[in-house]
Amino acid sequence: MPNAAPRYNIYDDPDLMRQAVDLGQHREVIGGMWDELGALQTAFLIAQGLAPEHALIDIGAGSFRAGMKLVPYLDAGNYYAIDLQASLLWAGYTREILPAGLAGRFPPQNFAANADFDISGFGRKFDVGIAQSVFSHLPIARLGDCLAATGPYFQVGGRLFVTVFLAPDDAADRPYRQMPGGFVTSPTNDPFHTTLKALDRIASQAGNWHMAVIGNWGHPRNQQMVCFTRLR
Ligand SMILES: C[S@@+](CC[C@H](N)C(=O)[O-])C[C@H]1O[C@@H](n2cnc3c(N)ncnc32)[C@H](O)[C@@H]1O
Repeated sequence: MPNAAPRYNIYDDPDLMRQAVDLGQHREVIGGMWDELGALQTAFLIAQGLAPEHALIDIGAGSFRAGMKLVPYLDAGNYYAIDLQASLLWAGYTREILPAGLAGRFPPQNFAANADFDISGFGRKFDVGIAQSVFSHLPIARLGDCLAATGPYFQVGGRLFVTVFLAPDDAADRPYRQMPGGFVTSPTNDPFHTTLKALDRIASQAGNWHMAVIGNWGHPRNQQMVCFTRLR
């Protein structure tokens, strides 16, 4: 018998996600703060130079908390998304995107569900990507998998913005309280933290990406922003 896939967080449980969706909780289950965190991501990306003509991939997009703000800003067809859970994507599409009249700017072929950060099926190269509050729920090695899988589908000079919880080196192996927010992060359980050293290692192993730590970007729970730029 093959081993079951590891469960790192609630998102790894498809039944739990479907239940949350059935209860009408697609906004809450991806973290709540619907308007605030959608607007924060959008304002951040625009301040970083996101322009309407850019193609953007939202990695771990959930129910389109950011998409609801990014789709109207980007030129029609330029917002793409993947997530582990099809139920979250479809809840966002039917309950948020369709009622807002945004389907013409974001057709269903622009999103897909998979566990492997596979963005090969969209048939284009991306200028900008964001993975917000995704690797805060996963062991940081999964970020290496993401960089390896997505790299070939970014333009040279394209940028992938990733949020993580950071801990100082001396707290790498123990729980660490994040302020603001008060969440206690862990090296081994959700919510996960990582360190600058571990990120450096992952970036150098991934190859072909340059990493720059942006740090505080106003996240209410102290997630920090890191930018990966595609080199060639
Ligand atoms: C806290 S939610 C954040 C959603 C979205 N980025 C936002 O800011 O609204 C984390 C999301 O990451 C997704 N996720 C977890 N593991 C993933 C994987 N391996 N590939 C793609 N998405 C994943 C979850 O299903 C969930 O929708």
